[in-house]
Amino acid sequence: MSVTFHSLEVAELVEETADARSIRFRVPEGLRDAFRFRPGQHLTLKAEIGGEEVRRNYSLCVAPEEGELKVTVKRIAGGRFSTWANEALKPGDRLDVMEPHGSFTHDFRADAANHYVAFAGGSGITPVISLIKTAMIEEPGSRFTLFYGNRDSQSVIFLEELAKLKNRHMGRLEIHHFLAEESEDIELFNGMLDRAKCDEVLEALVDPAEATAFFICGPGPMMDAAEQALLARGVASDRIHIERFTADRPAEALQAQLQELSRGSEGLTMLVTLDGRKRRVPFSAEAGNILDSARLSGLPAPFACKAGVCATCRARVLSGEVEMAARYGLTDDEVASGYILTCQSVPKGEGLEVDYDA
Ligand code: FES
Repeated sequence: MSVTFHSLEVAELVEETADARSIRFRVPEGLRDAFRFRPGQHLTLKAEIGGEEVRRNYSLCVAPEEGELKVTVKRIAGGRFSTWANEALKPGDRLDVMEPHGSFTHDFRADAANHYVAFAGGSGITPVISLIKTAMIEEPGSRFTLFYGNRDSQSVIFLEELAKLKNRHMGRLEIHHFLAEESEDIELFNGMLDRAKCDEVLEALVDPAEATAFFICGPGPMMDAAEQALLARGVASDRIHIERFTADRPAEALQAQLQELSRGSEGLTMLVTLDGRKRRVPFSAEAGNILDSARLSGLPAPFACKAGVCATCRARVLSGEVEMAARYGLTDDEVASGYILTCQSVPKGEGLEVDYDA
């Protein structure tokens, strides 16, 4: 993954709901390749707000075939970046944007005939709509079923766009809305996508055994509910893809554990590779993790959430061992292949070598 930031101009702002807007960037010809993306991936945006650098990840809401670079930002209470982006950002402004990354994606193939199922909640629809559009375009023989939970009909992002997609791909795209604070005639569609609702849905509307892959993105409790409901029905975890947003902060207990470990690792030397260069870096207990120790030594190691969810700070351990607190942003396969989240990791002993380029 390239960690380069590029300054991009905001070409257009689209008000999706009262508290969510999409930002479309103008991509100059020379950066077209750098900003090629896979469906479901995200961008890290960097801005200076009130004199402080703030970075956040936002998912792309478009299919690669649409030829646009567009993310959706939902305003969250007290969210510095999301409030600023919804209130102050204007067309013509420039933002620093990191090249697309993320593993919440799928290789769609023209000759495949699959059934995909997604559980989305609130702004968790953003990477999911990118996957849906791509599946509709790239896999004409495949179907997609979406279960989409929201507070009320006013807060449904992409309501119209989803309806249009459904009409255009009749028989291939099924969309079921669940509203927590509004009621409609069919009881199944009232209420939140909690565990009981996910169980009901999997009994009544899809056969989990027949679906190729499941995509889950939304608030933490909804994601846990959908995942548990699928696992309880015997769905193998490698068919379940989960994208966690930064809203889920790692538990305090994990952070305390990280601090405790840091104290014992003060001064250990690590070998860090970044952008093809190898540097010896001392671990700093005050920095508290490998990422911040590297940055303290002057290496521009990449990060966005610093909460273990976005995987922007991912690196591979080439030798030695680490202790990792939160690891939401990594798949089991990535962990097995030696990848760590450096914002959540502390070296265990001398001889640690990590590679950000791997
Ligand atoms: S910076 Fe997001 S997981 Fe480390």
